[in-house]
Amino acid sequence: MFSPALRATATTLLALFVSGVHSAPPQTRAALSCTSSSFTNVVTLPGVTVTIESAVTKSGTYQESGNLGFPQQIDLLPSLCVVIVKVTNTSDVPIKPQSSYRFGMFLPTAAKWNNKIMTVGSASFAGGINWPDMGEPVHYGFATISTDNGHSSNGSDLSWVTPARLYDWGYRAVHGSVVVGKLLTAHYYGKDITYSYYSGCSTGGRQGLREIQNDANAFDGALIGAPAWDTVHLMPWISKMAYYQLNNTNGRLGTDQLNILVSEVLSQCDFQDGQTDRVVSKPEQCNFDISQITCSDPSRCLSSAQAQTAMHIWGDYTVNGRLASHGFTIGSEDQWPVYFGDDSTLTGFDFSYERLWINNNSAYKWQDYTDQAVSDSETVNPGQATANRFADMSSYRTRSVGKKGGKILMYHGLADGLIPPKASLQFYNQTMAATSGADTLDDMRAWFRYFEVPGMQHCFFTNARFNAPWYFAGSGQATQLRLLPYLGIRPARGDGWSVPNHLNDSSYDALAALMQWVENDKPVEKVIATAFNADFTVNRTRPICPYPQVATYGSGNINDAASWRCA
Ligand SMILES: *[C@@H]1O[C@H](CO)[C@@H](O)[C@H](O)[C@H]1NC(C)=O
Ligand SMILES: *[C@@H]1O[C@H](CO)[C@@H](O)[C@H](O)[C@H]1NC(C)=O
Ligand SMILES: *[C@@H]1O[C@H](CO)[C@@H](O)[C@H](O)[C@H]1NC(C)=O
Ligand SMILES: *[C@@H]1O[C@H](CO)[C@@H](O)[C@H](O)[C@H]1NC(C)=O
Ligand SMILES: *[C@@H]1O[C@H](CO)[C@@H](O)[C@H](O)[C@H]1NC(C)=O
Ligand SMILES: *[C@@H]1O[C@H](CO)[C@@H](O)[C@H](O)[C@H]1NC(C)=O
Ligand SMILES: *[C@@H]1O[C@H](CO)[C@@H](O)[C@H](O)[C@H]1NC(C)=O
Repeated sequence: MFSPALRATATTLLALFVSGVHSAPPQTRAALSCTSSSFTNVVTLPGVTVTIESAVTKSGTYQESGNLGFPQQIDLLPSLCVVIVKVTNTSDVPIKPQSSYRFGMFLPTAAKWNNKIMTVGSASFAGGINWPDMGEPVHYGFATISTDNGHSSNGSDLSWVTPARLYDWGYRAVHGSVVVGKLLTAHYYGKDITYSYYSGCSTGGRQGLREIQNDANAFDGALIGAPAWDTVHLMPWISKMAYYQLNNTNGRLGTDQLNILVSEVLSQCDFQDGQTDRVVSKPEQCNFDISQITCSDPSRCLSSAQAQTAMHIWGDYTVNGRLASHGFTIGSEDQWPVYFGDDSTLTGFDFSYERLWINNNSAYKWQDYTDQAVSDSETVNPGQATANRFADMSSYRTRSVGKKGGKILMYHGLADGLIPPKASLQFYNQTMAATSGADTLDDMRAWFRYFEVPGMQHCFFTNARFNAPWYFAGSGQATQLRLLPYLGIRPARGDGWSVPNHLNDSSYDALAALMQWVENDKPVEKVIATAFNADFTVNRTRPICPYPQVATYGSGNINDAASWRCA
């Protein structure tokens, strides 16, 4: 739906920087049109260039050519204006000479605009505007923005690193995009924005938490999935995990061993949580006996060296008696190969972090990894990306700007093999401890709720054999159903947003539930998660619950959410 006639650039002039939408309500007037002149010389921002890319018509598509981070075409879009904003900032701290990044905007037609703005997060180390995930919030009516993080790369590429780009990836690109995006949105529609939201998973989760710690006024509500918040510890941990796999050739875990592990975990741990339902609901409480599958018959067993590798990966990573990172949960095994790599072709994340971001030594090999990486990583703290300023969460809770205090709905799949779910609980605990004057669980639940999702993998999906309910319109979930094969589902299914048959229904849709909480003071007591069959009929439903509650079976059909309550 690309219209060349619309493609034009407007460079804005002058030098008055307004630091937030609340301080600059434009006069109410009709919305402007999706043309470059709408943005010319009106908003006064230094270093900001606005380009109108195209006008998408109802049920249309958008795809940005040359986008390495998010090359996919996104479909089923409502009518909207596609805008790219380029920002350069020569005065940004702490690393000069300059901050330089772009962000994209999807601006729905004025009649469909819900008067709100949504900032969408990125994924892993990707450089590129996350247009695919931006395709979800526009259906609710959000003006939706997302930054390219200041570089161009696919998600597993860390070689773009320069000091300035690291800081842009770390936090500057998100912050500047939110500030400028709010101004441009209010300008375009000729009305003030009522609410600002955030949605992101993984790196996207980190970015949201980091921005909340940076600027308490950025958002009114945030949907945070499986956040990669602890960059300085997560990165050495996944290298250490790969090291365990690589260093002992006899102990390597291949597909066969991982399948044996997953099956054995299910048979030992499923019933231990009280229900035999193909979901390991309490992996932490499973008393798993790996000797049951340790023998010399590779068709049904692991060798003792292989068992040792698995034990290491489940275990916490401690250095000199200090916790560096929690290990992975029982039940997450089938996602581990993402980090394993192999000797000859070390692709993906493995050791690039130590090689390029910490040691700046292109000769660094996996064999060079030592536990020293943990303290080196803490010292370098690349781009100050780590979202560990827990005390700074207080002002988000108590701030007076905006309608109400900020709310956070965070979730993490308990079968996540890419980011340990315990890291989210750690974040929740540490925020509670650091939120002065509001440091009990009840106080926390008033503004920040954390939902564990048994059986869900990283951000979305589940082991298809077990089909745990995982779909609740979490960040990026609707998009993934359209883009990735799941249960062999082809062609792509779903509406591109929300939950099939329950569109915009806050009982099933976590974003709709968050909006009810922020705007109508209706706390999120539970969200019903759904599992689908290959034909996209509903396989089963089950509530996910705010910590410390867990879904508890009462009576009736075990595959129906109505038979469960949060307790
Ligand atoms: C530019 O950087 C300065 C200094 O960090 C900051 O105050 C300002 O908000 C930034 N401007 C934009 C457009 O990001
Ligand atoms: C979603 O539901 C809310 C609350 O009922 C309503 O205000 C809003 O208009 C709905 N949005 C859409 C796109 O259906
Ligand atoms: C990601 O980009 C890097 C650098 O260009 C390239 O080596 C690698 O093959 C790419 N990976 C994927 C999965 O496309
Ligand atoms: C790595 O070292 C080179 C050469 O000294 C330097 O130019 C570059 O900025 C360094 N990179 C990082 C990420 O510090
Ligand atoms: C890596 O493997 C070598 C050879 O088996 C062994 O000597 C060494 O102790 C291992 N390194 C670590 C840190 O476990
Ligand atoms: C979080 O706090 C709870 C309650 O104190 C505790 O049981 C749990 O072990 C803590 N978990 C983590 C990961 O810090
Ligand atoms: C649910 O999915 C599982 C695993 O794919 C399958 O074995 C089961 O038959 C399905 N149940 C229903 C009720 O569709």
